[in-house]
Parts: sequence; C-alpha cells; structure tokens
Amino acid sequence: MSAGNLIDGRAIAQQIHSETAVRAAALASRGLLPGLAFIRVGEDPASQVYVGMKEKKAKELSILSTTHVLAASTAQAELLQLIDRLNIDARYHGILVQAPLPRQIDAPTVYSAVSPAKDVDGFHPLNVGKLMMGDPNGFLPCTPAGVHELLIRSQIPLDGSEVVILGRGNIVGKPMAAILMQKTRHANCTVTVVHSGTRDAAMHCRRADIVIAALGVPEFLKADMIRPGAVVIDVGVNRVSDPSSKTGTKLVGDVAFAEVQPKAGWITPNPGGVGPMTIAMLLANTVRAAERAIES
Ligand code: GUN
Repeated sequence: MSAGNLIDGRAIAQQIHSETAVRAAALASRGLLPGLAFIRVGEDPASQVYVGMKEKKAKELSILSTTHVLAASTAQAELLQLIDRLNIDARYHGILVQAPLPRQIDAPTVYSAVSPAKDVDGFHPLNVGKLMMGDPNGFLPCTPAGVHELLIRSQIPLDGSEVVILGRGNIVGKPMAAILMQKTRHANCTVTVVHSGTRDAAMHCRRADIVIAALGVPEFLKADMIRPGAVVIDVGVNRVSDPSSKTGTKLVGDVAFAEVQPKAGWITPNPGGVGPMTIAMLLANTVRAAERAIES
C-alpha cells in the first residue's frame, strides 16, 4: 500500500448507482416506479443542500421523489400527520425526514412514526434493533452503511481489524460500531468507540488499522494520532470561518487531511469520500423497499 491512496467515494457511489438503476429498471418493467418522499422542516442551509442533492440523484435514477417543506415553526402533530399520510401512500416506498429537526419536535417520536417498511434512513427503533441483533432484514442507516461499502469495495481487510470510531452519535458512530462488530463476512472487527468522555483519544487511534472520524470537530484527527499505513475515513462536515474565501467560511472534515494523507495507507478525500456514499445507500435502500413491496 503506498502512502496517501485516495478512496474515491464518487466513483464507488457511481458503481452503486448503476446497480440501483438496473434494479429500478427491473421494477419498472413490472410496472412499479420506486418512490421516495423527503420531508424537510425549516430552512437549515445544509439540509437544503443535502435534500436537494438526494432528490436530484433520485430523479436521475428514475425514482419518483417529492420534497415536502414545512415551516420551522411546524407543530410536531402536523409533521406526524404528514408522516401518517405518506405511510399509507403506495406511491412512496421510502420516507426520509431530514435531521436536524427544530427544537419543538422530538426526533425519536418522529423517527418512530415512520413505517419501518419505509424507513430507508434506518432510524426507526425496529430497524436499529435489527441491526443490533444481527438481523439482515432491516434497513441500515445510510452513512455508516456507505462507509462499510467504501471499505468493502476498496478491499480494505476487515476481519480481525482494529477499528476506532470517533463519535457515538445515533446517525453514524453507534450504528457504525454495530455494523463492523457483527460476526459476519466483511465485518468481525474489534471496535473501539472514542467519545468526549474518553481519557486518551490519541492512544486508541494510534493502535487502529482503521480510524473512522465522525465526531463533528473540525480537523480533530492529526498525523501524530495515526499509525503509518492506517486507513482513515472522514465523515465530518464542519463549516469554519475562512477570511480568505468570498463567503467568509469553508467546509472542513474531522481529519486534518493535508498532514494525515502522507502518513495514511488509504484515506477518503472530503468532499468526494463519504458524502456521495450516503446518497448511494439511500437510493439503494429505496429500491430495496420497493422490491419488497412488490414481493409482499
Ligand atoms: N442528517 C444528516 N445525515 C442524515 C441522514 O443520513 N438522514 C437524515 N434523515 N438526516 C440526516
């Protein structure tokens, strides 16, 4: 392995999109158009961009998609009513409620209201439970599933590997740990989850064959925190001030890329690493939900 090999998330995501398009076409030949409903509450600028990108890609793959935009002041009951309507609307096989949600809305209540069969985000407690129990029939959350696919398709050895995950959030860190610790092919890793209560994060990271940074701290992972040749996956998206840019800000990951890349065996660029994979897994999950609808 030469130093600084880039893991091309865009190319791998494109491969997955091609596979998803074939499956969507097979459904279309049976008269079924896969459908995905997006719900965005409020005008969070990042969420606007993310939902826009997801919807554009869905359309490219001939997946029916509709975005419902609700005001930031929307009452929880109104959001739950919309979810109920979409749960019984046969045109939509997947429902995605973009996080973060405004303060007056309780995210666990909302994610529990989405039908588990349409939960292409993998946030419903039933799907979270299936993941924890090693039941492969649930939906996996898109970002950790995307990181897993990146590792598999880059032929990074997983069985028996030491993996350190930085961050214990419900969207990435926790499900990532569950995916990689399964006693299955392409997993079976020894997983350490490092978080804000960890005494010596660097000590854990230096032992790792694979470090997955998903803690939301700009450029947290420095070169002196990894072992030479380690695989580094950067999940972070952080907006920081940058007086030299026109907008006064720029996006950086959780990895200090410039200094870590020369020491890493493999590393994801950011952007162009994990981000495209999240979208690829979402659309793959949506087509899977539609395949199940036709089978049942
Ligand atoms: N916000 C950040 N990541 C995600 C995601 O994977 N799904 C949803 N619904 N919201 C997010």
